Amino acid sequence: MKVAGVMSGTSLDGIDVAIVEIRGRRFQVEAFRSFAYPPRLRQAILNLDNVPDLARLHFLLGELYAEAVLKTSRESGLRPDLIACHGQTVYHQGRPVRFLGRRVSCTLQIAEAAVLAERTGLPVVSDFRPRDIAAGGQGAPLVPYVDYWLFRHPKRCRAALNIGGIANVTILPAGAKPHEVIAFDTGPGNMVIDALVERHTNGRLRFDRGGRLARAGRVNPQLLDRLLADSYYRLRPPKSAGREQYGAAFVERLLKEGLAPLDLIATATAFTAAAVAIGLGRFSPQPVEEVIVSGGGAHNQRILDYLRAFLPQARVAVSSEYGIDPDAKEAVAFAILGYETWRRRPANLPSATGARRAVVLGKITP
Ligand SMILES: Nc1ncnc2c1ncn2[C@@H]1O[C@H](COP(=O)(O)OP(=O)(O)O)[C@@H](O)[C@H]1O
Ligand SMILES: [Mg+2]
Repeated sequence: MKVAGVMSGTSLDGIDVAIVEIRGRRFQVEAFRSFAYPPRLRQAILNLDNVPDLARLHFLLGELYAEAVLKTSRESGLRPDLIACHGQTVYHQGRPVRFLGRRVSCTLQIAEAAVLAERTGLPVVSDFRPRDIAAGGQGAPLVPYVDYWLFRHPKRCRAALNIGGIANVTILPAGAKPHEVIAFDTGPGNMVIDALVERHTNGRLRFDRGGRLARAGRVNPQLLDRLLADSYYRLRPPKSAGREQYGAAFVERLLKEGLAPLDLIATATAFTAAAVAIGLGRFSPQPVEEVIVSGGGAHNQRILDYLRAFLPQARVAVSSEYGIDPDAKEAVAFAILGYETWRRRPANLPSATGARRAVVLGKITP
């Protein structure tokens, strides 16, 4: 069947749509398109602080996602049978906190599936994360199930690294069984770099294309060490991070360091790569031989350079070398996860999320 996977990540750069033909355990990506969020919409999501706007955005995103799917379908001449929509995360708190006398974990992805279904006439699988949280997991990461399917190797220890707003890694030991997969958010991906670039250029640039600005700066080793001293990087997986950790407040603290803007961008870029290297070094049961990079950060040559410097024993390559378009990876992954839900198959890896058991993810809007 043809599944349209729809993804928008924490970068808030826009909507990715991949139409994937899936048969049993085989799949083929037939179309992929990205649609940028209008700047005002992006700001509205970033500044979201009241319930009426939350409800409005929820429905508005449903409309925008529907338009993105319809446009991808029209332009490719492909008609999907099912939509698998991750939605836009507006809040994620994978670990329980005390709230009104009880312990609560929660997550919230928005984009109303009823609108998507109504506009497209297609069934929709949405809201993948809550069921894993209900089963005692952190609701993230979910892509490791797909990484296992795509990249597991009988003889080599591999790591699939996605560098979106946040960077997350799936470690696949040689010949791993599902319960041996280790996955976690290593720390920031592009989120901190993006914010610094936006500040430095007064909003003229949204990201460091190719890593050119970072290349023009010098890493400040003292600041890098201090950033890496945070206890998060030593915390055992499962663990997940978000805009809550690396958003505006984090960036304000960095700006107070008084470094030259390009040096700060260079340091943030090295920080992303160093946090990955620390995570792989500490938590991989075997030396990682191959790092397979996807997400928008795969286009940042400087991140790749630092990864190679900090992981000298590993081969670091972009996922396209393994047949997966780095930009389409997560949209494809959610198409596959949606397909599993449609077939009523569990698709969380308890080893990755910390859930008590494997569960069928998501909600179906017929
Ligand atoms: N050509 C490029 N050079 C450097 N960075 C890029 C490039 N293209 C995209 N990016 C980075 O990737 C980010 C988007 O990555 P993406 O994988 O879509 O993240 P998310 O899943 O969080 O939306 C952008 O915000 C930007 O930082
Ligand atoms: Mg994105």
